[in-house]
Amino acid sequence: MKVGIIGVGNMGGAILRGYINAGGNPKDICVCGHHPEYINAMAEELGITVSASAEALTAASDVVVIAVKPKNVAEVLYDIEPAFTADKVLVSIAAGWTIEALQQSCSTAAKIVRVMPNTPAMVGSGMTAFSRSEAVTDEDYLSVEAIFDGISRVTEVPESMMDAVTGLSGSGPAYVYMMIEAMADGAVHCGLPRKQACEFAAQTVLGAARMVLETGEHPGSLKDAVCSPGGTTIEGVRILERSGLRTGVMEAVIAACEKSKNL
Ligand SMILES: NC(=O)c1ccc[n+]([C@@H]2O[C@H](COP(=O)([O-])OP(=O)(O)OC[C@H]3O[C@@H](n4cnc5c(N)ncnc54)[C@H](OP(=O)(O)O)[C@@H]3O)[C@@H](O)[C@H]2O)c1
Repeated sequence: MKVGIIGVGNMGGAILRGYINAGGNPKDICVCGHHPEYINAMAEELGITVSASAEALTAASDVVVIAVKPKNVAEVLYDIEPAFTADKVLVSIAAGWTIEALQQSCSTAAKIVRVMPNTPAMVGSGMTAFSRSEAVTDEDYLSVEAIFDGISRVTEVPESMMDAVTGLSGSGPAYVYMMIEAMADGAVHCGLPRKQACEFAAQTVLGAARMVLETGEHPGSLKDAVCSPGGTTIEGVRILERSGLRTGVMEAVIAACEKSKNL
């Protein structure tokens, strides 16, 4: 399977490296983008091909991944349309671009996969949601999933859920960074050096997240297990409940979801 990636910035670069690390053959990958020096150096390092244009890349690819900012998607679709054929799979990671809008702007595309990754993909720990048009077969779908496997957990959702996914895993890393920063601030206030405080806070979040994913237990019961009767943790939990932490986080996810709907 020949894979072409248009736009190799933060996400495109992470997808590219993750795919190669997961076993994607560099000889079957081509890219194109705006910064020739950077892209040529990357191509030499990874053994991939650089296409002279988005149209040339499309002609040479079975799967075309659009990884540019949402405002640049229309121009890319315009550029690739002459080379696009119905057997090719169009993959877009652009926030706000629906399958219908992609199809309208590239009328030759029938097989379309809309993808919502998140920035932890850059360290191989992302969360990626997929939705697909009817023409995408299971075989096509698995090929696209393999591109994102190396950088994230992957799962399929109905397209109507993409805004919720955007508000949760798309925007969620920012909420968690705020939590890590605030936890570290508390520890700094109690005398721990900043660097250590950040490390302890981040590893605590990472470990707690793994506990949820790997034990399959409800987060509420994992929380209960940390709270010894009359102990330190329930004291902290009392303050978080009084501060409205749960409502604040819920409202943040809902607000981001609503914003995504109105992009
Ligand atoms: N970052 C996130 O948290 C996140 C999460 C989920 C989804 N996404 C989606 O991922 C997409 C990419 O985001 P990003 O953060 O990776 O952006 P980025 O770092 O700006 O990367 C986009 C790259 O594409 C290049 N580009 C622009 N127009 C192009 C064109 N016509 N042909 C080829 N290359 C072109 C840009 O060059 P210039 O620098 O010259 O513009 C840039 O190098 C966005 O659509 C976003 O919605 C991002």
